[in-house]
Amino acid sequence: MFKSSQPLNRTRSNFNFAAMAATCRRHFFSLQGEGQGRGNAGVVRVQLLWAVSMCCALLCIQYLPHSISAEPILASSLGFCKTVPVLRGAPLHCCLPAPTRKPIRFKFPTCANGGPPVVRERKPVHVVQNDPEYVRKYNLAYARMKALPDSDPRSFLNQWRVHCSFCNEAFKQRELPGPLGKATGVLLQIHYSWTFLPWHRMYLYYHERILGDLIGDPTFALPFWNWDNQLDPIAGMMPFMFLPNFPVNNSALTDVNRNPNHMPPKILYLGYNGKLEAEGKQNLTDEQIRYENLCVMYNQVVTKISARSFLGGPYVVGTNNTAATVNVAAGETPGESGGMEIVHNVAHEWTGLINNPAHPDNEDMGNFIYAARDPIFYTHHSNVDRLWDVWKTIPDKVTIAGNRQRVDYTSSDFLDSEFTFFDENQDMVIVTIRDSLDSSKLGYKYADVSESDNLWINYEPLPPHKPSEPWNPSHWPAVVPSGNNTIGKVPSSFKLARRAPTKKDLKGKGLKHLNQLQEDIVLEKMRIPHSAYARFDVFLNFPEANRETHLYMSEYVGTFTHLPSGMVDMSASVSHSSVTESDGQFRLFNIRYSVGQALRRLGIADWNTDVVVTIVSKGLRRTNPTIDFYFSDIKQDFQ
Ligand code: C2O
Repeated sequence: MFKSSQPLNRTRSNFNFAAMAATCRRHFFSLQGEGQGRGNAGVVRVQLLWAVSMCCALLCIQYLPHSISAEPILASSLGFCKTVPVLRGAPLHCCLPAPTRKPIRFKFPTCANGGPPVVRERKPVHVVQNDPEYVRKYNLAYARMKALPDSDPRSFLNQWRVHCSFCNEAFKQRELPGPLGKATGVLLQIHYSWTFLPWHRMYLYYHERILGDLIGDPTFALPFWNWDNQLDPIAGMMPFMFLPNFPVNNSALTDVNRNPNHMPPKILYLGYNGKLEAEGKQNLTDEQIRYENLCVMYNQVVTKISARSFLGGPYVVGTNNTAATVNVAAGETPGESGGMEIVHNVAHEWTGLINNPAHPDNEDMGNFIYAARDPIFYTHHSNVDRLWDVWKTIPDKVTIAGNRQRVDYTSSDFLDSEFTFFDENQDMVIVTIRDSLDSSKLGYKYADVSESDNLWINYEPLPPHKPSEPWNPSHWPAVVPSGNNTIGKVPSSFKLARRAPTKKDLKGKGLKHLNQLQEDIVLEKMRIPHSAYARFDVFLNFPEANRETHLYMSEYVGTFTHLPSGMVDMSASVSHSSVTESDGQFRLFNIRYSVGQALRRLGIADWNTDVVVTIVSKGLRRTNPTIDFYFSDIKQDFQ
């Protein structure tokens, strides 16, 4: 049948960094926006029209609040806060100090006379670390932050707690208006949904302002760890300025809880699989790592046109993705991480201590509980934030019409979601997602690294494998919708019957034409243990794919990763076996792979040809051969 992985010395005629960079150009397509909302926005609109024409004014007033049901979430550190359990040791206290003054509303930054603020320019860390003056200031800012008392919300301890608490279900979701809206009974989790990018953007915004304020420098900017850069030989390494033995004093930037096997000259591998590494089977050359990294970036960012596929799924009041009790029939959505969150998890996993029994939580970076204790965290997220800006500029090239612009969600449920943070004056500030969408209004910008961005933006995977026998997807079983479909250690392949999109698929998308839709494959309601790092790489029409298959092939369509957080039952997680038993220890996820480009590469130009979907499970950290992942269905979906 097919040849399995590509031989090491296979040369790619089209892989010439300099030539690729030279031919790269950005195109801008001006198209109408995508208008993402919740799936029922169209129904709501029709209902509303009906209501307007049929009802008297009074009835309308009663009708509106029920049918338009805007339910933006309020994420505030005021009020209820519980400790966060960890695998080893006592639960952690991640709660934040109460504000000493009345919370204030966010205002865009200005300079003293009210004009536009001095722009902070965030530069690549592999560049700024060569500037001793910058390193000195950066280290001083963190040293001062670490010296602040625990009661000060600007202290490094409290900066870590911000992440530990909001990302590990210490708080409950609240309803607007903030800052202390009505508490719901549902715990709050700002990962695994559309809140991921905006929340981290504003978290960094205040973190950067606090650091700058502590050294009296209003132009101070965080650097970004440019790990997606495959052009510069050192950009993907753990940044030197955070490591011991750096020539300039960097004592406030080091952290002992990092993977000693991933120090320079190792480069971050976006196909990273800790299990394979532990078995001694992950021995790629740097060149192979770079090819795979480009392909992972291409599949996690470029092929994702819709806001949903890049930013993540909706998260509104009542959504409970912290337990496996999501009531999909009632309109609740399981967790759905976007392409950006998924690829960012790999850098966390790779940087943290892994396969070390003394550190079962993969501290610091490998677990949302501890991640922000490592100063590398903020430079990693600076790059994640940058990539959100880059995503909006990438030309379509993915849908059949190839003329759709990437835009953020536009629904009120998204835009009016509120968060609270502490600013450089120790004031609690209420910000909305609406405030976060335009980074230029926030007074910072990113240094241009488009030459390396363009390597993955314009990446083309290897040509498809040629089957040696006639191909027939019916050799593989279709998924029977149920809660008991499993993915185990061995790759699983399923036949997927495809269909053409219909007018119904356009609903609520803000698009006019069917051929502007992005075709996705969704694994529905995957159950993932809270305490597990999970990774699924998916291939189309390549059932031979296994844990060692390279990701730079045409058949690879993307990755899903889950980074642990908010472990609910520690004793159970430690003894492994009971992880499969109780529902409370799982999250439910919808996992989305965007496949339109891959289908065309594979020569499938119609909507109806069936395909085989192969899911290769990787990366459960703690060895337990009995753990299977359960999911309910595999579906085609259009966004
Ligand atoms: Cu809140 Cu990189 O995580």
